[in-house]
Amino acid sequence: MHLIFPYVKINASYSALCMATPLYGVQRSIKRRNKGRYDWRCGSVETCRNVKSFGSSRGRCLRRHGDYSQRIMAEVRLVNLKKVYPNNEPKKKKKGDAPEKKTNLQITDEGVVAVQEFSLDIADKEFIVLVGPSGCGKSTTLRMIAGLEDISDGELWIGDKKMNDVEPKDRNIAMVFQNYALYPHMTVYENMAFSLKLKKVDKAEIDKRVREAAEILDITQYLDRKPKALSGGQRQRVAIGRAIVRNPQVMLMDEPLSNLDAKLRNQMRAEIIKLRERINTTFIYVTHDQTEAMTLGDRIVIMKDGFIQQIGTPQEVFDHPANLFVAGFIGTPQMNMMDAKLLKKDGKYMVDTGSICVELAEEKQARLAAKNVPEQDIVLGVRPDHLMLCADGIKGKVDVSEMMGSSVHLHINADGRDLIVIVPTNGASAHFPMGSEVNLIFGGNVAHVFSKETEKNLEW
Ligand SMILES: Nc1ncnc2c1ncn2[C@@H]1O[C@H](COP(=O)(O)OP(=O)(O)O)[C@@H](O)[C@H]1O
Ligand SMILES: [Mg+2]
Repeated sequence: MHLIFPYVKINASYSALCMATPLYGVQRSIKRRNKGRYDWRCGSVETCRNVKSFGSSRGRCLRRHGDYSQRIMAEVRLVNLKKVYPNNEPKKKKKGDAPEKKTNLQITDEGVVAVQEFSLDIADKEFIVLVGPSGCGKSTTLRMIAGLEDISDGELWIGDKKMNDVEPKDRNIAMVFQNYALYPHMTVYENMAFSLKLKKVDKAEIDKRVREAAEILDITQYLDRKPKALSGGQRQRVAIGRAIVRNPQVMLMDEPLSNLDAKLRNQMRAEIIKLRERINTTFIYVTHDQTEAMTLGDRIVIMKDGFIQQIGTPQEVFDHPANLFVAGFIGTPQMNMMDAKLLKKDGKYMVDTGSICVELAEEKQARLAAKNVPEQDIVLGVRPDHLMLCADGIKGKVDVSEMMGSSVHLHINADGRDLIVIVPTNGASAHFPMGSEVNLIFGGNVAHVFSKETEKNLEW
């Protein structure tokens, strides 16, 4: 408990919350850290890497940026959230919105159900990423947390306070949007100071916070410029700066990097990872980009058609996709899928592709046996880096060979199936002419078996 007290630095405006919430948050986090294993199927126990490094990173932050130690901690609990847009409510099209793909949202008499059965416990200072294709309900969920959208059903808790009916301005949340939303007639400094001015924060305190945030984001030299004299990346930094000066309990980000070009996006992604270490707040980040989700999130929530598909750490959802959708969405190039049969021979589970029969690894055997999964037609999933070239195996012909530098991506046609194989070059030159014949094998530890009927992972 001695860890706690240095951080409870009391500031007049936050005193009441500061006194109560940090103790509550730390106790809960420690309890959680000592608690059992995380279960990726329900996302129940947290695995926040920041909780573990709490002492050291917080200490570093305190030394570098004294002001940020005042941040109020926040656990966020979403219980069975639901959002129904009434049929007569036209969608407000915002500039910069990605064109919407057709989705299979449920439509009831009440209207379009954009999000349903959304339950998630977010630990204090955890970085959660909501990811899924356009139109799956990510922004709606975020906007319900921010208070910009009414919650049709369910509960939203921040710390120990139910927030369903609390005004957005009183939720101590900051949101960063894809299109920056900066005031064009104000300088960077004024943009960042604006919300604090409205709150009538002391001028010296505003100056301190703006300069600290500018230093963190490396935009000090642009404080006197207007947004139009900044590049896209710099504008997005200002938008983030404007959010962090408010010392929010929770930072919400809705596709903040989507307007940037690929190189800048990679750079800003790394900046957000660093930023997260320095400002130590709870993040909820929305993206349609699985790479962003995998690289940024402590845990990621994969959504489709308004429903959560899986919650887990990046490694968990990559290694144990709950269903075919998650298997195809996470990982690039996409997981190869092929029709196959799950067989049981002498008590051992095997997958039969028609040309090869592979015995599944021990732990997969155990999980299938525990559920007494019967023999059946399945969809077999194998990631491109887990297919290997061999003297014998699934026969195919090279359609396209893409040289990527450290590896070659081979697009292979095998009995009408299109498969991708990543072949490491290991510094040697690798040449696979079009039409050349190859044989593919895979190990029993990397074969994912999905029900053809329900599309669910049969192991779970
Ligand atoms: N104001 C609105 N009125 C009616 N439908 C809406 C409104 N806002 C969003 N929707 C619908 O809700 C679904 C989810 O939208 P959204 O949360 O913006 O998706 P995402 O952010 O995942 O792309 C979409 O199908 C969209 O058309
Ligand atoms: Mg959106």
